[in-house]
Amino acid sequence: MYSIWKRWYKKNASSNADYDRIQKIKQSEVPQHIAIIMDGNGRWAKKRALPRVAGHHEGMKAVRRITRLANQLEVSILTVYAFSTENWKRPKSEVDYIMNLPQEFLGTFLPELVAENVQVKMIGEPEGLPVHTLGAIKRAMEETKENTGLILNFALNYGSRAEILSAVNKLVADSKDGVIGEITDDIFSKYLMTSELPDPDLLIRTSGEIRLSNFMLWQAAYSEFWFTDVLWPDFSEEHLMEAIEVYQNRSRRYGGV
Ligand code: FPP
Repeated sequence: MYSIWKRWYKKNASSNADYDRIQKIKQSEVPQHIAIIMDGNGRWAKKRALPRVAGHHEGMKAVRRITRLANQLEVSILTVYAFSTENWKRPKSEVDYIMNLPQEFLGTFLPELVAENVQVKMIGEPEGLPVHTLGAIKRAMEETKENTGLILNFALNYGSRAEILSAVNKLVADSKDGVIGEITDDIFSKYLMTSELPDPDLLIRTSGEIRLSNFMLWQAAYSEFWFTDVLWPDFSEEHLMEAIEVYQNRSRRYGGV
């Protein structure tokens, strides 16, 4: 039986070629976890002589279309880096604007996420986030907690070094209490904010920057990277499919031969 989104896609895919491309991608191994560093919103706005926040607003729309396609492709987890622990250094007006986006995004999109079996999750430090921002995310998490499909995971007030340090501190405390013995990869991973999630298979960064910017430093150890010059607000279904096709043609060896 076709779901609403499948019908939506059949109706809205610009051509049968798009639909066929989606089916072809699904016949091969689709990355289970895709993580995206959404960069270039400011430059997108500047190119159009618009305020930077216009780029963030357009970026929010890109999150919506990429979530729809990821669900359509049966990706299990889509992590989007929406706000880093370093982003507080931006002008207050820009920070305030970004902090309003989850509410706006979920205000219109949550019913569709609920209907389409998407689960909303978050990684990052809840402390420090405005009440309305955290409230919108928590409500979405609550309303989608029984869903079993795509996990849309917001990295919000997230920084990988802080996450690793926090894990180390908890591990030290638990070691003192005698709760754990030798620390293995698996045990360490359980102390991270991503404890419930597999590591990203594919990590995408837009806007031509080639760096991790404190994102999933531990988790990305064996991720395949795909960088594009495309600015995040311009990131389309076409680009996601291209990234996945490139991924499908890579050979992942995890240090082996
Ligand atoms: C980086 O671009 C982008 C951000 C810091 C914010 C990302 C936020 C969104 C895409 C919207 C998120 C949507 C929801 C629903 C929470 P930049 O501003 O650093 O761009 P620049 O490098 O061109 O200046």
